[in-house]
Amino acid sequence: MMGYSARDAIKCGSATIENHLPETGLQKTVSDILYDLYSSPKRISSKYFYDAEGSRLFTEITRLPEYYPTRTENAILRELPLDKLIGSFDIDIIELGSGDHSKIAIMLDRLLSEDLTHVRYVPVDISQSALETSIMELAGRFPGLAVQAIVADYCHQIHLLPEKRKKLFCFLGSTIGNLNRDEAMDFVRKITRTMNPGDGFLIGFDRIKETAVLEKAYNDATGVTERFNKNILRVVNRLILSDFEPDDFEHKAFYNPSERRIEMHLEAKKQLRIRCPFIEKHFELHKGESIHTENSHKFELHDILAIGAYAGLSADRLFSDNNAWFSLAYFLKTE
Ligand code: SAH
Ligand code: AVI
Repeated sequence: MMGYSARDAIKCGSATIENHLPETGLQKTVSDILYDLYSSPKRISSKYFYDAEGSRLFTEITRLPEYYPTRTENAILRELPLDKLIGSFDIDIIELGSGDHSKIAIMLDRLLSEDLTHVRYVPVDISQSALETSIMELAGRFPGLAVQAIVADYCHQIHLLPEKRKKLFCFLGSTIGNLNRDEAMDFVRKITRTMNPGDGFLIGFDRIKETAVLEKAYNDATGVTERFNKNILRVVNRLILSDFEPDDFEHKAFYNPSERRIEMHLEAKKQLRIRCPFIEKHFELHKGESIHTENSHKFELHDILAIGAYAGLSADRLFSDNNAWFSLAYFLKTE
């Protein structure tokens, strides 16, 4: 599960993993979750999707025929000019929200083994289980690759990121779209402050397209996204000791055109009373009331350029598929 309970440091060959989540404090986690559940409308931060089961379900989502973003971005990654992005310098590739590391593996597979010796891979993810799997698989697949995995919340623990060496930041999968638009601007700006001239930032953006295509990607026929959405309640139950019953809720995912985002919600099928030992009274949901669990913003070209400009980065190249369904923007810190 998400490692909020104990500080761990594990070594696996030339790979290390450190869990810094306990530094955020369980009490703060509990009060943040309760604050959001008392808000109107109720919400749960999408970062709580990713316990071991949530990370596993997300990987399943990436393989669904309806979920076009992963295969579209992967095809772009296979063509990226790595000599320009990585070169043959000593470099830290810092991947924010690395998940199952499958995207970085596409890039590392294309490097010559002598170039790999210059690379240190620094995956940062809130999911301890995802990072544990990554360090074991990467050790087998890229022997000798230096890996320093960091279990942390990348929004609140930026100070943990390595600063000294030349850096390429990667924020793939349109995970940036799970932040609100203002948060995304601020986040990229904060990361940019840790960069030196010559460092790069590669960000994946899901683009606006036909509503039917967008909505199908979040309402797959086999119900994997529904299970992923409902799993967040199990994670919350473990963290705040509540008694949400996931099957009391219906999965809803739809495109909100004015906000240019897919929204995911869990809608109560009946009047519900949720108990939690950290509050004096239970809290209630009426039939049809929903808990907002995720935003997945979609981007126009001007949004992408605005994010880079606000951070003071120069937009070096934009790589897109032929349909412009997905874009990878490569930004450079120049001064
Ligand atoms: N980049 C991968 C995974 C995307 S899923 C891909 O494109 O396939 C989003 C990932 O970000 C998950 O692995 C999740 O655990 C991680 N994540 C979400 N919010 C986070 C946060 N606040 N801090 C650190 N990791 C986070
Ligand atoms: C990780 N993130 C970019 C995914 C998305 O598309 O917003 C999470 C996801 N939610 C439902 N399906 C996939």
